[in-house]
Amino acid sequence: MPTYNLLLLPGDGIGPEVMAEVRKLIAWMNSHGMGTFATEEGLCGGCAYDAHGVAVTDEVVEKAKAADAVIFGSVGGPKWDKVPYEHRPEAGLLRLRKDLQLYANLRPAVTYPALADASSLKRELVEGLDIMILRELTGGVYFGEPKTITDLGNGQKRAVDTQVYDTYEIERIARVAFELARKRRNKVTSMEKRNVMKTGVLWNEVVGQVHAREFKDVQLEHVLADAGAMQLVRNPKQFDVIVTDNLFGDMLSDVAAMLTGSLGMLASASLGEVDPKTKKRRALYEPVHGSAPDIAGKGIANPIAMIASFAMALRYSFGMIRETDLIEAAIAAALAQGLRTADIASAGMQTIGTAAMGDAIIGEMEKLAA
Ligand code: IPM
Ligand code: MG
Repeated sequence: MPTYNLLLLPGDGIGPEVMAEVRKLIAWMNSHGMGTFATEEGLCGGCAYDAHGVAVTDEVVEKAKAADAVIFGSVGGPKWDKVPYEHRPEAGLLRLRKDLQLYANLRPAVTYPALADASSLKRELVEGLDIMILRELTGGVYFGEPKTITDLGNGQKRAVDTQVYDTYEIERIARVAFELARKRRNKVTSMEKRNVMKTGVLWNEVVGQVHAREFKDVQLEHVLADAGAMQLVRNPKQFDVIVTDNLFGDMLSDVAAMLTGSLGMLASASLGEVDPKTKKRRALYEPVHGSAPDIAGKGIANPIAMIASFAMALRYSFGMIRETDLIEAAIAAALAQGLRTADIASAGMQTIGTAAMGDAIIGEMEKLAA
């Protein structure tokens, strides 16, 4: 069995608490012959700023580049509201995405049967939901230059963000979308605002060209992003893979997450290009939820998104499909037993804490693997 090197970056807020459950899971898998994982840990986010005055050090970025996969918790919190903009906790995560060129962000939104009633939508709309939001992650308004606030000297300031996309950036994310769709229900919905934005015009054109050239067998539809957001809450099951830019993807994935009952359930994978020589691809796995400072340190955060993110690492970085399925089945089984953290509990249900949920999932794995 190969040894896989994981870099764990728990981060801030509930990050360390949910990461503790992944650590337990890794130890369990190592001791049950289900993989040989070597782990290293590092700081990213506000915790790195406190220790080193930057949101992530060069050393941690180099370790992330060298690792077989980075497992990321969450960053940010009110404690760092006043730190200089370039050192804010989020800058650490954004630098990792950019420096590792993790351009493809897969955010699957799947409703677990036991949780259909936890959704803010009616059960019939979300029962059996399984969609994939594919968010472009290294371009667009997140990174475009200029990005400035200028004092106009007359009591006014001017803020500028730049939304910019080159053809190759759209081509490569479109390819990932079509390839994912081929393994799912063979449908891609591309979302942009071509009626207002030049980047939307180019996005629409390039996705269409990639489709016509290489993926005619996949069904493609183009939807304006605002109408797409509306459809996502009106009839989410019409979608299979949604491909969209960095900013729209940020927002649409939070909406999609909530359809499934809680942000605490949603995992994500951020992938780079496959290196033709080593056949390896850089990758970072993180829950979609943030650092939830309001509940940090209380031991009540939901560890499922974090554990499911680790499961995505097994699937996409290591091809360990059986083990991925085992973890996902164990999560579903724990939920089916009625176990709930506070964020996914319906009225009157008893709730358990972070560690108890992690233990329950490992317990279900024991049973399923036996
Ligand atoms: C996300 C988060 C990040 C983003 C923040 C923490 C910078 O909201 O991963 O969705 O905006 O991309
Ligand atoms: Mg977000």
